[in-house]
Amino acid sequence: MLTVRATLDPAFRIAPIDPRLFGSFVEHMGRCVYGGIYEPGHDDADADGFRLDVLKLVRDLGVSVVRYPGGNFVSGYRWEDGVGPVADRPRRLDLAWRSVETNAFGLNEFMAWTKRAGVEPMLAVNLGTRGIQEACDLLEYANHSGGTHLSDLRRSHGAEQPHGVRLWCLGNEMDGPWQIGHTTAEDYGRRAAETAKAMRQVDPDIELVVCGSSNVNMPTFGSWEATVLEHAFDHVDYLSLHAYYEQHGEDRASFLAAAVGMDRFIEGVVATADHVAAKKKSRKRLKLSFDEWNLWQESRFAGQTNLSWAQAPRLIEDTYTTEDAVVFGNLMMTLLRHADRIAIACLAQLVNVIGPIRTEPDRPAWAQTIFHPFALTAAHARGEVLRVEPAVERHDTAEHGDVPLADVVATYDEASGAIAVFAVNRHPDRAARLALDVRGFGELRVAEQLCLGGGDPGELQATNTADDPQRVTPRVVSGAELANGRVTARLAPVSWNLLRLVPGA
Ligand code: AHR
Repeated sequence: MLTVRATLDPAFRIAPIDPRLFGSFVEHMGRCVYGGIYEPGHDDADADGFRLDVLKLVRDLGVSVVRYPGGNFVSGYRWEDGVGPVADRPRRLDLAWRSVETNAFGLNEFMAWTKRAGVEPMLAVNLGTRGIQEACDLLEYANHSGGTHLSDLRRSHGAEQPHGVRLWCLGNEMDGPWQIGHTTAEDYGRRAAETAKAMRQVDPDIELVVCGSSNVNMPTFGSWEATVLEHAFDHVDYLSLHAYYEQHGEDRASFLAAAVGMDRFIEGVVATADHVAAKKKSRKRLKLSFDEWNLWQESRFAGQTNLSWAQAPRLIEDTYTTEDAVVFGNLMMTLLRHADRIAIACLAQLVNVIGPIRTEPDRPAWAQTIFHPFALTAAHARGEVLRVEPAVERHDTAEHGDVPLADVVATYDEASGAIAVFAVNRHPDRAARLALDVRGFGELRVAEQLCLGGGDPGELQATNTADDPQRVTPRVVSGAELANGRVTARLAPVSWNLLRLVPGA
């Protein structure tokens, strides 16, 4: 058996947890909007066409903020197409996903949906085919109270009150050759800075996200961030990161340690942002917006060029296993560990398209395996993240080199005294004994231990389906003990665990 030792102490804290860490993403892609959150005529849809079964799952997931409308889609999008009487809205080619966009769902529908879901909206402007003027027009339409052409147009469309959207993304993945309007860091940095300045003149209360690299493997990763920030550093609030993880071939050990790759990615972006701050002699510590992250079997995606102008086609509807949920839960732990710099994180995407929620037209919506670590983390990671230095055996992986065989992250809610310990055992067949020193907290007891995973290969490959939507759910584990300020618990092989400690004897 492995042993994982760590000390939790209320004196050692990383940062408060921003609820925006539990965000998600709705793109006009595949069946995320149409047939996902919005399906007029469905048995469980309301008068606005919003699927109530999906809305319930979104609330259960604990999502705080939702980014919209893309993604790659936004770089060819005309926001005006999606407002006003639905019958007058044009059908368009969506070049990003070679799909037909009906525009039946647009900004005002999205805003109504966010209210119903209880989430904060985060909008992206098109800096692919459009520019400063259209970004300012959209902002005026969305946020200006009235008395101008565009704000009065919104009112005439039934949205009397301004939407008051605070979070805005300056385009999407502009370093990617697949992006409509793909450009250089120099060009994008200047464009983003000027768009930011103009948008702040329309509404000084907005918060702006500038595009970082599309992923850590881009040849320009690092230099892209540095150049963009040379121009935009003083004009933006956040720098974006995007990352998708999958198992490559038979290399399971690297996949199980994907969180180590995410850790290093974040550290690289922080270093680059701080390098620019140092050059500018600025004390500003730019926050990060990890506004697309998830597991995605991207190498199996046939590619955009093979798509064929369908309306809401089934695109990248990955089905997740229990093992995926373990890796996914560990990625969430990494986001928490960097709560001092990551202010926003969006699980990409929300429904059907690599989503934690799945739908079929004739079936109730269901939760995929990855739904569970997200919902439990969003529900129990409260207060501040503690600085934890777990000590455990390490092993070598092809992708990440030397990595620890287990990971531990903990949060402490001073108001309630509750501690949430998130622990992952990455070993394929050895269980681990978790030994925590919690003497710094006074009297505590173990409220519960929940676990996803375990060594059984059949169990690890299990999935949730429309026919068996509860096949994979977290199970209660007994045996965790707390005595004399020391906790011991068993972590099954390949498992994600939540251990809740609460005040009391
Ligand atoms: O989430 C799917 C796509 O992945 C997004 O449209 C794009 O931003 C990223 O490359």
